[in-house]
Amino acid sequence: MSLPKAELHLHIEGTLEPELAFELAARNGVALPYADTDALRKAYEFEDLQSFLNLYYELMAVLRTEQDFADLADAYLARAAAQGVRHAEIFFDPQAHLARGVGMGTVVDGLWRALGRSEATHGVSTQLIMCFLRDESAASAMETLEAAKPYLDRIVGIGLDSAEVGHPPVKFREVYEAAAALGLRRVAHAGEEGPPSYITEALDVLGVERVDHGLRCMEDPALVERLVRERVPLTLCPLSNVRLRTVDTLADHPLPAMLDAGLLCTVNSDDPAYFGGYAGDNFDAVCRTLGLTDERLRELARNSFTASFLEHDEERRARYLAEVEAYEFE
Ligand code: ADE
Ligand code: ZN
Repeated sequence: MSLPKAELHLHIEGTLEPELAFELAARNGVALPYADTDALRKAYEFEDLQSFLNLYYELMAVLRTEQDFADLADAYLARAAAQGVRHAEIFFDPQAHLARGVGMGTVVDGLWRALGRSEATHGVSTQLIMCFLRDESAASAMETLEAAKPYLDRIVGIGLDSAEVGHPPVKFREVYEAAAALGLRRVAHAGEEGPPSYITEALDVLGVERVDHGLRCMEDPALVERLVRERVPLTLCPLSNVRLRTVDTLADHPLPAMLDAGLLCTVNSDDPAYFGGYAGDNFDAVCRTLGLTDERLRELARNSFTASFLEHDEERRARYLAEVEAYEFE
């Protein structure tokens, strides 16, 4: 769907398509334990978040040089642009690369080769959000923030991802405080597999401005009321939720109920190479399966720009919002 939209929940490493994975593996002399792209695609049957993460981290072995990260981001931006994405706030997972001996500079400079020219090349404005792996220690997150200091001119904020259950937001209180003191924006995954209390904790302890997923807020009416009152954006990822079995089927997705409740929902792709669709595909799927009206879809697109970290360029936000209002559905 070419409705203009911002993508606010996108892991760049999750855009690694099997074809590019094999190309980079050949370029870097990395052996992959799959015969070909078909065999790799057959591994995309996930039981839960952890079973996905195992493959996600395994395939990162092919990402070694600045050019690899540039090629990865360029391929994503081309696909996103073709599906109406006008602005993308892109997550990356530095700890997963640092642990393999790939430095922060290689990752950020490489991504920036593509992001820095993305407006000219793809017509997509971009920002970078650095995520901490919540199943690693708080000390490791703090070391990662330290390692990122030379690159903060290109990083708008921090996030928290990886295995959620058993790793509550409070574990990262100090690193979020340090990031806030550096002027970084703050988001966190919460309420994907973890309980609604993790959402509350992310708001109260980490001071997050958006909640990534936040799906399980629906189990706590008082929390829903708060999220509505405080206009906290939720970055939902419907196709991801189906593939990671957070919901049984797309038809069971609570998105319509969440919109009816007045929540500031956005629709995003999470890890599109693994979950069967980019941003526009997610819009198409919820439109088709959940029967959202054109005005509901326009609301989702509007929300995506409202929730974007575009405070430094309100003119741009207004331009994007005007594009949403002017869009004509077929
Ligand atoms: N890392 C990449 N995708 C993720 C997701 N959906 N949840 C948590 N961590 C992730
Ligand atoms: Zn995610």
